[in-house]
Order: sequence, then structure tokens, then C-alpha cells
Amino acid sequence: MTSKQPHLNPEIARATAHIITIANQKGGVGKTTTAVNIATAVAALGKKVLLIDLDSQGNASTSLGISPADRPITIYDVIIDRHNIERSIMQSSMPLLDIIPASIDLVVVDIELADAPQKQIILRNKIAPIASNYDYIFLDCPPSIGLITLNALIAAENLLIPMQCEFLAMEGIAYMLNTIKLIRNAHPNVLRNIGIVLTMFDKRNRLCVQVADEVRAELGDIVFETYIPRNIKLSEAPSHGKPAIIYDMKCLGSISYMMLAQEFLEKMSRGSW
Ligand SMILES: Nc1ncnc2c1ncn2[C@@H]1O[C@H](COP(=O)(O)OP(=O)(O)O)[C@@H](O)[C@H]1O
Ligand SMILES: [Mg+2]
Repeated sequence: MTSKQPHLNPEIARATAHIITIANQKGGVGKTTTAVNIATAVAALGKKVLLIDLDSQGNASTSLGISPADRPITIYDVIIDRHNIERSIMQSSMPLLDIIPASIDLVVVDIELADAPQKQIILRNKIAPIASNYDYIFLDCPPSIGLITLNALIAAENLLIPMQCEFLAMEGIAYMLNTIKLIRNAHPNVLRNIGIVLTMFDKRNRLCVQVADEVRAELGDIVFETYIPRNIKLSEAPSHGKPAIIYDMKCLGSISYMMLAQEFLEKMSRGSW
């Protein structure tokens, strides 16, 4: 038994993983940092976790210490049906955390799959046979709502939207929420739980505080209480090929991601957010 809290957790009896997509069409808002660190933190709390890197830049893969040369089979090979998903899974250096890496090939997948049948549910179908091997599967999306992000949104019951508190951030969120509404109309069982995570928060920056207050006032019920502060260690960790939680477990960024993971697991154990 790998879980430290087997009897507290109703979801332990689930036959299949919870799937959580991490998306925001804007780049540089903390998607990958959140994906890598929440996945690591949840694994550190005793859950079996898979992180799927869906960005052609492969930053999540690099952040877990897997260099481009060490990615023999990537999510691209799985999506285009060249390799079986089982073969694409790699162990990370963190116990209980596996990863499917991404590669630059992913940039052309929208074009390659333009005429593919049911092209928006490819990822959901690929993940299905391995889902029962994990408690949680996190999907790190690219910074656009292209075919890959659509696939990730349709594959998940849960969505985390990292949001940087800056000018026009609310407009971006409104666009995301509208996209989600459209997806739910077509696929009623997906994206039941939605949570916004405030990232790179700087309490000395007045605009940042103002935007955070505005978001909490308007969308409070879907905003996580835990926010992630701007913290240099979080940005240093990827160049060392380690999640911040491993690179420096005592820094404020790591502590915040551990708290976020705990809040996340509490919400998951309640069933709906
Ligand atoms: N809380 C934070 N404090 C400081 N730097 C951060 C924080 N979150 C992310 N970063 C840095 O900001 C940049 C963009 O973050 P990233 O997670 O890659 O965003 P995205 O995946 O949305 O493009 C990266 O260089 C990352 O290291
Ligand atoms: Mg990213």
C-alpha cells in the first residue's frame, strides 16, 4: 500500500485515476510550474501520479530532469498512433511520479490530424487503458486553445487554471470560461470541477493585489485559497532538472505548492469543488 492515508480517502477505491488538465491560453502564467510541482507534491503525499507533458516546448519534461535527447517515445508518438502509450511512460526521479514527455514534433500535430476522425477525443481514448494504474493524472497544456488543449480539456473531469494577477488577466479567464462552457455543451461529463490558482503573486505590487481581489470577488467560489507567491527558487529549479519541491523543499514556493496540493486533495476527497 503506497498511500499514507488509505482509509481517509474514498477515491482510493476508484478503479481509475482522476484526470486534471492544467490550462490557460496565455503563456508564461505558471502552467508548467504548477503542473510539475502539484504533481510532485501529490506524489510526495503518497499518491501514484502521472504527468503528461503536452507542450511542444517540453518544459515539464525538462523540469523533471528528462533532456530532449532522453525522450525516445513522446506523447506525439502516442497521439499519432506510432507507439503504444505504455511504452511512452518514463519514471521520474521522484518515487510514485511518472511522466510522458513531449517533443518539438507536437507543433505539427494540429495539421497532421486535421482530417483524423474524432480528433478531439484521441487523448481521452489513449489515456483510458492506463488510467487505472494511477490515482491522479495531470496534463500540462500548451499556451493556446488548439487541438492538443481541446483534447486535454475533453479528457478531464477537473481543470486547474493558473492565473497571473496582472492587467487584462480577467479577460483571459472570461475567454477560458466561455470555451469551457462550449465544451461542456458538447461533452456534458467533462470539466465538472474548475479551480483558478493565483500564481506569481506579489503582495507589494498594488496592481497584483487589486487583480487578485477582483478575481476573488467575482469568481471566489472557484478560486483556490492557496496562492503561489513570486519566488525565485521556483524559476531556478527547472534548470537543475528538479521540481522546486525537491530542489529546495523549504522555500516559500515549495511550501505554497505543498499547501496547494493539500487543498486540492481535500477538494477531491469531497467529490466536487
Ligand atoms: N511563482 C513563481 N515565481 C517565480 N517565477 C515563476 C513562478 N511561476 C513560474 N515562474 C517562472 O515564470 C516562467 C513561466 O512559467 P511557466 O510555468 O513555464 O508558465 P507557462 O507554462 O504558463 O508558460 C518560467 O520561467 C517559470 O520558472
Ligand atoms: Mg508551459
